[in-house]
Amino acid sequence: AIEQRITGLLQQMTLEEKVGQLNQYSGREVTGPASNRKTDLLNSIRSGQVGSMLNVKGVADTRAIQAEALKSRLKIPLLFSLDVIHGYQTVFPIPLGEAASWDMAAIRESAHVAAREASASGIHWTFAPMVDVGRDPRWGRVMEGAGEDTYLGSQIARARVLGFQGEKLGGTDAIMACAKHFAAYGAALAGRDYNVVDMSEQQLWEVYLPPFKAAADAGVATFMNSFNTLNGVPATGSSYLQRDILKGQWNYPGFVVSDWGSIAEMVPWGYARDKADAAQKALAAGSDMDMESDAYHTTLAQLVKAGQSDEKQLDDAVRRILRKKFELGLFDDPYKFSDLKREKKVLNDPQHCVAARDAARKSIVLLENRNNTLPLAQPRSIAVIGPLAKAKRDLAGSWIVLADTTQITSLHDGLTKRAGKNTQIRYAKGCEVEGSSRTGFAAAIETAKTADVVVLAVGETWDMSGEAKSRTDIHLPGVQEELFQALKATGKPIVVVLMAGRPLIFNAIADQADAVLYGWFPGSEGGAALADVLFGDYNPGGKLPSTFPRNMGQIPLNYQQYNTGRPVMKPGDIRYKSAYIDAPNTPRYAFGHGLSYTTFKYDGLKIDKASLTAGQSTQVQLTVTNTGKVAGEEVVQLYLRDLVASVARPLKELKDFQKLNLRPGETKTVTFTLTPDKLAFYNRQLQWAAEPGEFQVMLGSASDDIRLESRLTLLP
Ligand code: IFM
Repeated sequence: AIEQRITGLLQQMTLEEKVGQLNQYSGREVTGPASNRKTDLLNSIRSGQVGSMLNVKGVADTRAIQAEALKSRLKIPLLFSLDVIHGYQTVFPIPLGEAASWDMAAIRESAHVAAREASASGIHWTFAPMVDVGRDPRWGRVMEGAGEDTYLGSQIARARVLGFQGEKLGGTDAIMACAKHFAAYGAALAGRDYNVVDMSEQQLWEVYLPPFKAAADAGVATFMNSFNTLNGVPATGSSYLQRDILKGQWNYPGFVVSDWGSIAEMVPWGYARDKADAAQKALAAGSDMDMESDAYHTTLAQLVKAGQSDEKQLDDAVRRILRKKFELGLFDDPYKFSDLKREKKVLNDPQHCVAARDAARKSIVLLENRNNTLPLAQPRSIAVIGPLAKAKRDLAGSWIVLADTTQITSLHDGLTKRAGKNTQIRYAKGCEVEGSSRTGFAAAIETAKTADVVVLAVGETWDMSGEAKSRTDIHLPGVQEELFQALKATGKPIVVVLMAGRPLIFNAIADQADAVLYGWFPGSEGGAALADVLFGDYNPGGKLPSTFPRNMGQIPLNYQQYNTGRPVMKPGDIRYKSAYIDAPNTPRYAFGHGLSYTTFKYDGLKIDKASLTAGQSTQVQLTVTNTGKVAGEEVVQLYLRDLVASVARPLKELKDFQKLNLRPGETKTVTFTLTPDKLAFYNRQLQWAAEPGEFQVMLGSASDDIRLESRLTLLP
């Protein structure tokens, strides 16, 4: 029935009205370079020349603007879109932090709460999840993704899409999601934003495309294309990506929105002569909606009239966009998401803070815990030191929408509230995040000397990661590590809490701190969540979704290393080996690493069928026991290596994982099913196939902490 209604509408639409549906403008805020567009926005909306708005929020505003759209000849409602990336009013941990939870239920719930708040506030559509695999921590946008791994990233892509959208579009507590940035943006050369990407087809298909496919399979309503080139062609103008793969092979029914201005940016890329040429190329390539370029609006009708653009392709783009407006129910009730009472009630739902605290606790990674420094025994006094100790805004990270950042729980607030009357909290800032001033060191040292334990909060400011926030140096900025060393010299136990939007390098802290927690940017409940972990009210179970390098020269570094023809067999064995002479190949912290306040024993590995014929599956079983004194969570990770293949394969690839919750002394049996798909890879003909031969099956607590191993044979 929807398709018939669309056909009916298309028959009534003028060329200009069709182009109007493809046109998206930003409202009050900008999330890209300001344009010199001269359009009278309201007038354009009234005359049916705008299909969607971004950066307008709140029931009052969206309702008022929707009313203008309903004055247009065909009364086609607008789509209101926004970057609801990790919360709307309630701020959840940054997506990279949430990825460290490896907890699909918590991740889905986070997206659901964000959707609930946004939809109550007039929003129909978020530009999330970002499903770009990110393997270069210099790239500021790693904060917005799910880390370096394709399998984990694909699971998270699915959880986020389902969280935002629910099972079916149309509910009032769900919004459309958008898988972005199609494709390979995460591989921008040298981690510099908006840069070129050159990669093999095999790498594209195997590493970068699967999370997009997972999002499409989960029913994601829209895709966003990308600023980068892929092998010479801007992704926005790539019919290979958008027509051949997405709308062709994957038969994707949703629509593709460009990134901010990315259609017109094909001109400075040197891929299009002018805006008209860019518009012609973008439509031909399958970009359906033009975000903020004004290229379609100013040139497309003329291009169609001149026979330079295909009206069928235009109609197809319009159809895809209208379909979503119908599925959302906007034609039946354009104000469906515009209820002031509901907005007030939903935005103040206290359950949302509970969910945000839960997500934050789950995202915290315990990197070091020497002499069981953590959890803190009830100390008489804690010196809370560091430029992020009292920070509030920073804890929210990039991409926040409505949050009142003055209400964020800082680490200092969280500790003060938790510590109670018997523990004194003393504070000194010590230094700023950036800059070289050491004038605060003396006071910080004095404060440390008076306390039983120091909690030092250091890291990045919120605006050092995110879009257009690439860095050439990811060492802990400024003199923060010097401050750590000065405090260490007091002899007091030092617990370091790092907060940042990317993996950082902090070797002195890693080597000498008594305990290290990585909190990412933990969101509005971050300080409370960190206090929960520091005091042991919550036993941390986060595992790194990204490799932490030892130094800049190792970047890009991820766990999927290759053996090479000259592997390093033992530390120091570097002569004529694939190695560096000044640093090991190994990372500082490996993908999957994360400690707990308890310990886990892996045992009893059994493989149901150690020899398989083509198409068969097998079960891999093991037991995991909590051998410590407190309950805890463990992420059991299954890695595979294909030992000999027609294409050299990585030493390890994550193929499955399970998150367990175990009481002290409790044993659980974990069962994984190895399907034929998990043994497959893209061969040189780009076919996804498993090849007969031997596979190494590895089970562990981290990619560098394999506890059990076995072999599996795929028979010819
Ligand atoms: O959604 C974003 C995108 O990820 C980067 N450029 C701007 C868009 C809209 O704000």
